[in-house]
Amino acid sequence: MTAVQFQLGRCMYFAADIRDATRLRKLGSSTHLSPSRRIISQSIQKRSTVPGKADSHIVARSSKQFTEMDITTENGSADTLTELDIALSPRVVSLQPSKTMAISDKALSMSESGIPVIRLAAGEPDFNTPEAVCKAGIKAIQEGYTRYTPNAGTLELRAAICQKLQEENGLSYKPNEILVSNGAKQAILQAVLAVCSPGDEVIIPAPFWVSYPEMARLADAKPVIVPTLLNDDFLLRPEDLSSVLTERSRLLILCSPSNPTGSVYPRNLLEAIAAVVAKHPRLLVLSDEIYEHIIYAPARHTSFGSLPGMWKRTLTVNGFSKAFAMTGWRLGYLAAPKHFTDACNRIQSQATSGASSVSQKAGVAALHLGYAGGEDVAVMVRAFQERRDFLVKRLRALKDVKLSVPEGAFYLFPDFSSYFGSEVGDYGVIHDSESLCEFFLEKAQVALVPGSAFGEPRCIRISYAASLESLQVAMENIEKALDTIKSLAKASSK
Ligand SMILES: Cc1ncc(COP(=O)(O)O)c(C=O)c1O
Repeated sequence: MTAVQFQLGRCMYFAADIRDATRLRKLGSSTHLSPSRRIISQSIQKRSTVPGKADSHIVARSSKQFTEMDITTENGSADTLTELDIALSPRVVSLQPSKTMAISDKALSMSESGIPVIRLAAGEPDFNTPEAVCKAGIKAIQEGYTRYTPNAGTLELRAAICQKLQEENGLSYKPNEILVSNGAKQAILQAVLAVCSPGDEVIIPAPFWVSYPEMARLADAKPVIVPTLLNDDFLLRPEDLSSVLTERSRLLILCSPSNPTGSVYPRNLLEAIAAVVAKHPRLLVLSDEIYEHIIYAPARHTSFGSLPGMWKRTLTVNGFSKAFAMTGWRLGYLAAPKHFTDACNRIQSQATSGASSVSQKAGVAALHLGYAGGEDVAVMVRAFQERRDFLVKRLRALKDVKLSVPEGAFYLFPDFSSYFGSEVGDYGVIHDSESLCEFFLEKAQVALVPGSAFGEPRCIRISYAASLESLQVAMENIEKALDTIKSLAKASSK
């Protein structure tokens, strides 16, 4: 018997032979289906009636395959029409996929098809992990250090983190107030899940790191986005914080140095923010300090939890990915009062358990490289600074682009909005940062991330985790692309 299995919207159908193929055709011509699905269902019907194929059944294994007409033929039979509810949780349905990942993937596939794309979209250092750190990882494997560790991380690593926080950040924690996670991302998500109840408000200054609002939503909390201005170097004004606080406010997320702006909060501004926080009975602060070592003098990093009265309200997150070029080792940590660390520990124990034993040995070696990562990290920071200076000079020369000079991380976040609304020949109109990024990708072969991903649609994020030579070519290509926009816009306005 010929049978057809197919998926429409949320339901999986098993259709038996021609009777159900007819039913299928009816569905295919229903107004609820997109034209591509209509074509596919007709093609299934056609194939299911092919003479000599009476014993085959046609399967679309997923809705994506179904939409792409990638239908395989298999033996089998089904003689009842079954509906399977494959509805997803509203938690997932409302979740935004990461735009940074999407553009990186598109750039990668262009590169793989032979187009020389300069990839400035990723948030990943282009350096190798320091040698001493790699050696520690190799030694761990060779010595059989390959088993589960305690859920919170090894005492050796947690003690090293406590020492680092004391010496570099003026923060006193005991090892049982540290939780080592599989990357800082996990530490942040667990912290949000641990402290937010449904309906609580999470205050997020924009531009923000893409994951913060989505993590708040995952916790059934409400992200409250507070815009900041380029003219204020994208730093949160205490009065703006004050104006959004309600009795539901639970967590303020600060990121300094910031992804995507590179802004660094000066100590006096953090003190003014702390004064607002202190007045609120239930407001906590998540301080994401993952870029702390990538900072350019005279800017200095201040840990929010070290400010008077803030220790008990602060959940400090840090990690190894950025400063130590250890993105693939997946190692980060939370430092917070024991009550909060214990709660996060409980979540982690039911999710992933402890971080990789090998990575934890490598993490200890990273913290032993010296103050702020010693010379290994200083070399990377000097290279980042040279690239930042180069890009700042070139972008400042573009009169139509507004820029706040970043003091840390490895991103610039210029405002390109003066180009929005330009008509660019066959390409059409550049509406916003997303279409401008697509234009740059296609015409300048440079991959950048639209500011809309970070809650500031006028800007574009440029990651300078790439060689100076690549940045030079990228800037030349961008300048040419912008010249094209200007000349076409001029021509169409005549
Ligand atoms: C601001 C910020 N926080 C946290 C993370 C997460 O880092 P990881 O999970 O690699 O430690 C990132 C990574 O891009 C980031 O940019």
